[in-house]
Amino acid sequence: MNYPIWVVPIFGGGWIIGIIAIVHVFLSHFAVGGGAFLALTEELAYRRKDENLYAYLRQHSRFFMLLTSVAGAVTGVGIWWAISLVNPDGTAVLIQNFTLGWAVEYVFFVAELATVFAYYYTWDKLTKEQHLNLARMYFGFSVMTLVVINGILTFMLTPGHWLESRYWLEGFFNATYWPSLVLRLLIMFALAGMYAMVTSSQIKDQKTREYVVRFCAKWLLPIFFIGPVAGYFYLANVPQAAIETVFNGVHASGVGNFSVLARALYLSLILSGTVIVFAYIGPYLNPRGLTVRISILFLICGLTVTGITEWMRELLRKPYVVYGYMYCNGIRKESVDKLNEGGFLAQSKWSTITALPHGQNDIELGRNIFRYQCMSCHTENGYRGMKKLLGERDRDAIEGFLKTIKSRNKENNPYLGIMPPLVGNDDDLQKLASYLCTINGHSETSPAVSSKTRASSQF
Ligand code: HEC
Repeated sequence: MNYPIWVVPIFGGGWIIGIIAIVHVFLSHFAVGGGAFLALTEELAYRRKDENLYAYLRQHSRFFMLLTSVAGAVTGVGIWWAISLVNPDGTAVLIQNFTLGWAVEYVFFVAELATVFAYYYTWDKLTKEQHLNLARMYFGFSVMTLVVINGILTFMLTPGHWLESRYWLEGFFNATYWPSLVLRLLIMFALAGMYAMVTSSQIKDQKTREYVVRFCAKWLLPIFFIGPVAGYFYLANVPQAAIETVFNGVHASGVGNFSVLARALYLSLILSGTVIVFAYIGPYLNPRGLTVRISILFLICGLTVTGITEWMRELLRKPYVVYGYMYCNGIRKESVDKLNEGGFLAQSKWSTITALPHGQNDIELGRNIFRYQCMSCHTENGYRGMKKLLGERDRDAIEGFLKTIKSRNKENNPYLGIMPPLVGNDDDLQKLASYLCTINGHSETSPAVSSKTRASSQF
């Protein structure tokens, strides 16, 4: 409401963030885990004076540098681009609270980039000890980028004492900070092992290949043993209300979709189990049999699990962008009373300004309320489209529904766990209803459109 809005048709803005973020998660986890892998493997090569292992590392570091520095950095900036366009209010909260955090993050990121370039281009120019030190430095810097960003990511789900004190370090070292840090490190090691399987399955020298492939399989062990413990501590610190809504779905309303999360969790557990078991009987017990194809298959399984897990974590936070403080649509929880009394349109400058070009009629203003309050999760007629969700509701039913979601009482509003309450006065509600009626064809004002859409909504 404090910024102009970016309308992304069909997919909705959430998917723009989601797609960039998932790609970035894969690459950035690889950057950190791969840093550990390079440092440890080079240590091995150094101790064993193993030139074959050195030759492999050189090959692997090329793949590593290109993937993490170019694609990793571009998608990292891409996330900022996307979140500041799709959710400017939420982004502003993060920037204002963690300015110092970002600055520190930036320093480590630049140091990380500088060392990875130095590492890759100095294989023949430095002594073996110096080069090994570069690998260790790279690992140190890349872990520090995680240490910083982890505070900001976990803050959004469990801001904890920050909600009262507004002191940024309290938000930073929040309840899920440590379990999340451990979990991410473990995932990073596992992914690094899987990425390295792809490159090591191509080593020509058979003995070295077997040795490295088996070494890679061991990188999956930590998550197998420590992962469940860290996962338990993580979930124990997440707001239990969030977990409940998400697992049970919304019984009273018949919106069962959210229990999709439970299914996603099972899928993710089954896939992780499969990866672990196959890593053991495949690359570990039988390293000679690992082909490039199988290793790529492994990697795809690993990335799928990571993707699903990140997506579940995002779902847990809904309907908030900062849990208990700001809703996904950028409205602060504490401003709801004021907006209900004085009216949403009257108090949000941008929503009326952007309606002007089309004329200040009720439908245009209602459309803007929809854009500001609903479009962070819905589209008109695409992903989670209003047309389909409204179904055959007529004007009365739509008004009734809006009254329901305006309530902040759990008894009256079963949607509270998944949707922010509708904010505004009666006038706003009427305008939003007028607009919603035009979407599913129950509008008195445009009969031509209505008969057409009514026909197609039969399907
Ligand atoms: C934080 C995300 C979020 C926001 C913001 C949001 N919704 Fe929803 N809404 C959902 C989810 C999730 C569902 C369940 C979708 C499903 O079942 O596919 C849903 C379902 C619905 C449904 C179908 C409900 C039913 O039981 O038939 C309607 C209608 C709806 N939303 C309208 C709105 C309106 C109007 C707004 C803005 C005032 C809004 N939503 C804002 C997430 C959101």
